[in-house]
Amino acid sequence: MFEYAPAPESRAIVNFQKSYGHFIGGKFTKPANTFQTISPATEEVLAEISEGSAKDVDQAVKAARSAYEKTWSKISGSERGKYLYRIARIIQERSRELAVAETLNNGKPIKETRDVDLPLVASWFFYYAGWADKLDYAGLGPNPKAHGVAAQIIPWNFPLMMLAWKIAPALAAGNTVVLKPAETTSLTALLFAEICQQAELPEGVVNIVTGHGATGAALVGHPDVNKVAFTGSTDVGRLIAKQVAGTNKKVTLELGGKAANIVFDDAPLDQAIEGIINGIFFNQGHVCCAGSRLLVQESIQDELLKKLKKRMETLRLGDPLDKNTDIGAINSKAQLDKISKLVKQGQKEGGEVWAPNCPIPKNGFWYAPTIITGVSPTNTVAREEIFGPVLSVMTFRTPAEAVAKANNTPFGLSAGIWTEKGSRILKLADQLNAGVIWANTFNQFDPTSPFGGFKESGYGREGGRHGLLAYLKAGN
Ligand code: NAI
Ligand code: MG
Repeated sequence: MFEYAPAPESRAIVNFQKSYGHFIGGKFTKPANTFQTISPATEEVLAEISEGSAKDVDQAVKAARSAYEKTWSKISGSERGKYLYRIARIIQERSRELAVAETLNNGKPIKETRDVDLPLVASWFFYYAGWADKLDYAGLGPNPKAHGVAAQIIPWNFPLMMLAWKIAPALAAGNTVVLKPAETTSLTALLFAEICQQAELPEGVVNIVTGHGATGAALVGHPDVNKVAFTGSTDVGRLIAKQVAGTNKKVTLELGGKAANIVFDDAPLDQAIEGIINGIFFNQGHVCCAGSRLLVQESIQDELLKKLKKRMETLRLGDPLDKNTDIGAINSKAQLDKISKLVKQGQKEGGEVWAPNCPIPKNGFWYAPTIITGVSPTNTVAREEIFGPVLSVMTFRTPAEAVAKANNTPFGLSAGIWTEKGSRILKLADQLNAGVIWANTFNQFDPTSPFGGFKESGYGREGGRHGLLAYLKAGN
């Protein structure tokens, strides 16, 4: 057996400041009411960031309003596009630095930030830069208009990617932005603020206010906000929907998921195994569209589980900066506790829990890749989003049973189908209640393709032309 030698990416390329204020009107404010932000892999303090007050939020919204009226709504679409192209190119130039920073603050493997997150972040800005002067073709008729000031609240699982999904279409459509990153992963948003300065983006077009849930609630509730975009938990999505009910604010919500990854007996098994692994262990399973429910046709269950376990034994958990690492750290103690609690519940309800024997680092927050077999559709682990590297396995006999089980969830974000038969893929995709359906692959993202859910997974679409519509209204 050959052992891997450590292959750590250097962190010398990243220079965090000791403490950060908010980014308002093109400048950083003086740090105030700071709290520590850590590396979840080591618990080392990386920097201090500021807790945004209602006053900070108000200043940021004022800056965004003023920028909207004085500059951003006055310049042409092609001028806005130039700024977006400039931002996209600076992201590419600084992508190694941003990848290392994201890995430090989030805990996800450098392999992923380097090869998935950062290329997608740049591609989102390039894609929407191209739209900025073509809004007449977005589908709303000639001269569509921006809403004005967009309040955007994002989670910790894909910090920079969620920022790009929110900011790129908003700016292309002519809105200005106040964004609140998640409290545990704000550092790359603050580096992005520097990129806005570097791109000489007019001041106030992008504002970033850091802080916890209360800061987010103040932003959503601000009377001068025209549009709210949120990605995160279904619970907070509900709070936001209540908070804006009865106002003129437009809302899009991208919430949780409990995707079924359906494997038929004629599926190319080795390929399906890779898809299952990617579907649930990519980003430690902190993925709203994760393939967290495996539905396997009964006749191939034993063979598939044997192969899956063998493959799981090769997964490498540990230092996220190591280029060989497959599974990094869980983003926070709170998330780790939630995962452990749900898995214990799954065991109590009769599920059989299995994990490979993998060493767990002493400091930081970690969870071994895990599967739970013998799960029935009424079990907690088949219904609730675990948001961790934990796969619940169920079986089916007929396509109709697969569809019934897959749709038996309050969510409807994504699904996967594995089979040789093209006709079966099309028929099933039609019957599955999910916004995104992958066939013989999983977790593929592209800026040209809309993404979003049904039912408790939220409403509205991000990406593609559809994603633009959330930030536009018909002209007059
Ligand atoms: P969360 O929904 O509380 O946090 C997401 C963002 O919302 C953060 O920026 C947070 O500061 C902000 N926020 C919290 N309360 C708010 C409020 N009342 N008004 C406005 N903004 C508010 O998610 P959390 O607590 O970090 O994770 C809990 C669970 O949510 C996870 O275990 C997972 O199941 C799910 N989740 C789903 C995500 C997705 O991509 N669909 C992302 C993050 C979490
Ligand atoms: Mg929360």
